[in-house]
Amino acid sequence: MSRKTAVIAGASGLMGQHLARHLIATGNWDVIGLARKPLPIRDMRWIRVDLGEVADCTRALDGLHEATHIFYAARYDHPEGVRESAAVNTTMLKNLINILDPVATLTHVHVLHGTKHYGSQLGPVPVPIDEDSPRAPGDNFYFEHEDFLRDRSRGKPWRYTISRPHAFCDLTTDYPRSLGLVFAVYASIQRELGEPLWFPGSAIAYETRTQFSDLSLLARAITWMADEPRCANQAFNVVNGDYPRWSEMWRKIAAWFGVNVGAPGKIQLTQLMADKGPVWASMISKYGLRQTRLEQLALWPYGDYILKPEWDVVSSMAKARRFGFQDSVDSGAMFVRQFEYYRAERIIP
Ligand SMILES: NC(=O)c1ccc[n+]([C@@H]2O[C@H](COP(=O)([O-])OP(=O)(O)OC[C@H]3O[C@@H](n4cnc5c(N)ncnc54)[C@H](OP(=O)(O)O)[C@@H]3O)[C@@H](O)[C@H]2O)c1
Repeated sequence: MSRKTAVIAGASGLMGQHLARHLIATGNWDVIGLARKPLPIRDMRWIRVDLGEVADCTRALDGLHEATHIFYAARYDHPEGVRESAAVNTTMLKNLINILDPVATLTHVHVLHGTKHYGSQLGPVPVPIDEDSPRAPGDNFYFEHEDFLRDRSRGKPWRYTISRPHAFCDLTTDYPRSLGLVFAVYASIQRELGEPLWFPGSAIAYETRTQFSDLSLLARAITWMADEPRCANQAFNVVNGDYPRWSEMWRKIAAWFGVNVGAPGKIQLTQLMADKGPVWASMISKYGLRQTRLEQLALWPYGDYILKPEWDVVSSMAKARRFGFQDSVDSGAMFVRQFEYYRAERIIP
């Protein structure tokens, strides 16, 4: 198989890193990562660049003739609760394409988006959500990216694809916006205190159906889109493919940690965890855990945000299946793998 050269924008981000490692492990790719603060990842080259600054992009990128694929997984800074800037995120993609398109031998551009495309974070949307479901009201860089790529790819030798995953799930231990870490650290503290695993959302939220995107599955889906000619210029939902109710997931999480299930609607993680730093510090010494600080380990407002919707969030995988992608992941087993990993890494007791 001929070698391909992937330029991953946002290669230090949660999915960017995962995708870089996935491509390197196949042995078929040369991988070049772009970020303002590169990370050490073996067997890849880094280019430090601010994609929002056209002059910096020109300086850093206009010699990248070898790029065959762009995987765009960047997203400009957005503190929790602050909306992503459509303007900055759109400029970042445009700067990258404007510079690489004329100089490189591009065959494929993939952009990583999400279910916010459909507005499922804003209120109920008809489910299952398919890829032709209407765009959310208001602005969103996803729309500007998609419209830009559709126009820009006309008459070019390259095609584009778009993935629309939901909440990312991965084994990383140093990324606090992670549901696995939020659940694992919260449940460990509750067990230590002899308290139940209260569900932060309402009783209605507790019975809604939800979904997750395992990052290994997402990496396989993204490389499949890049390789499958029928995917050209198409968008695909990419989720695990099961749609558990939170109540089912909650019972499984509580059972794994050996704690009682608590009623919904009584607590917010952000408030409940606010004074638990000393408990966590004492657990670190008691169980010989790796040194971590509670407020940096898990992002509690993210947990509250994900557990809040009082409506089903269900993206159809029918289109991906029709086009040939058959992979799925059992979400309960996925969380158990994460908890076992955190225990093995001495993050939790
Ligand atoms: N996280 C989720 O659960 C989730 C779920 C569904 C969809 N998504 C979507 O997936 C995409 C990626 O999300 P993520 O969570 O993997 O992102 P992330 O972890 O926040 O990473 C963002 C990446 O973008 C880079 N970046 C930001 N500003 C930059 C700039 N000016 N120039 C160059 N690089 C820049 C960052 O590196 P530097 O800071 O070093 O520059 C980092 O590598 C987004 O479109 C997001 O909406 C995420």
